[in-house]
Amino acid sequence: MDKILIKGGNELKGEVNISGSKNSVLSILAATLLTDDECVIKNVPDLKDISTMCDILYSLGIKAEHDKDFITTKRLSKSKYVAPYDLVRQMRASICVLGPLLAKLGKAEVSLPGGCVIGPRPIDLHLKGLRALGADIDLSHGYIKAKCDKLKGAKVYLKGPFGSSVLGTANVMMAAVLAEGKTIIENAACEPEIVDLAKFLIKMGADIKGYGTYRIKIKGKKKLKGVEYNIIPDRIEAGTYMIAGAITNGKIKLLNCNVSHLGSVIDKLSKIGVGIETDTKGVLVFKKKDKLSSIDLVTSSYPGFPTDMQAQMMALMSVAEGTSVITERIYPERFLHISELNRMGADITLEGNSSIIRGVSKLSGAQVMASDLRASAALILAGLVAKGETIISRIYHLDRGYQDLEKKLSLLGADIKRIK
Ligand code: EPZ
Repeated sequence: MDKILIKGGNELKGEVNISGSKNSVLSILAATLLTDDECVIKNVPDLKDISTMCDILYSLGIKAEHDKDFITTKRLSKSKYVAPYDLVRQMRASICVLGPLLAKLGKAEVSLPGGCVIGPRPIDLHLKGLRALGADIDLSHGYIKAKCDKLKGAKVYLKGPFGSSVLGTANVMMAAVLAEGKTIIENAACEPEIVDLAKFLIKMGADIKGYGTYRIKIKGKKKLKGVEYNIIPDRIEAGTYMIAGAITNGKIKLLNCNVSHLGSVIDKLSKIGVGIETDTKGVLVFKKKDKLSSIDLVTSSYPGFPTDMQAQMMALMSVAEGTSVITERIYPERFLHISELNRMGADITLEGNSSIIRGVSKLSGAQVMASDLRASAALILAGLVAKGETIISRIYHLDRGYQDLEKKLSLLGADIKRIK
């Protein structure tokens, strides 16, 4: 099992290229199931989750060929409708093949996605939306068995106990674009990845209005065509590198990132003393004062502070001045990184779904274990600033969502390497 070894203390300097958005690619790959034509998706990062989705498409009769940073999808002779357990269990985002399969073939069998370390990952909103469009859905033997004659447009209300659902919105949107008549999705997710999916579907010929707002209106079409499409930059990767620049007291420039997707992150970082200057070429990030100030923040769905940036922000606040409180409203159990950060000398406690982070003067390198994609990123960030060596194990979590992380960081001057 690979590990990552970091010797902390280097200030990061230079430029870093932000890759395409993993979460946007995953639902857009699922959307290629809606057409018989070839599609070309560009600005695709080389990540484990994306190759898993390509394997799932292959099991459904679509050949998705990944060459450098683009993927070409081509329908093989026979369309299939069963997404197998051994692939779905690797990545719960596979659930978003359900909507397009129902829309295109009228049937789908998808293994029930398990939970993961950040908490139970229910899909009740997905099923509620698809049933509203007329799907007959049965859960048995760990599989979702869905079928329908022809999906019919309907009004769907997708608010759950933790707000809207990103992939729930994606699933219902992809089902509605080929349904008969009009669909209205109330309390839809507004994430940039949903906007990217909507733009992809519109380019295919779908009729979608209101995407990016809480109310999306869709008029079903008979057929959708294959398209070429450029994926948006990954806002979470970008936010992670912003914190890498700040935590190491460095000065780095992010290229190919879309600052309009990072409003709440930039707002909080600026408030604690991180300098963020945008010009035509990119975004310059540096520390404006010696000690960053503490801050209280709550994660929420877009455009609020993203839950996928919570762990990274906690690493930064662990060495800020004073006490910060970070409350997690999307995944209340998403705190496995606390114990690992405390092993590195952080002083963090948990009260329910609020973490209390008392800033310390320094962190010390230690052997730590990654637990999920974003928690692993937080441990990398802590290792960059900790005194001495940090060794991070189970880094396969990282490879799911960050392309060439140690290469990009060492190019910025970090003393980091992957060890077998
Ligand atoms: C997407 O997951 C992202 N994944 C997650 O990123 C991200 O953390 C999450 O949105 C929230 O922004 C992809 O896009 C592949 P949700 P998703 O449905 O759509 C509850 C990463 O690190 N819920 O918006 O599965 C759910 O339990 C990953 O890249 C229900 O109650 O998340 C959670 O508390 C991690 N019922 C909240 O809603 C449902 O049917 C938001 O979940 C669905 C969700």
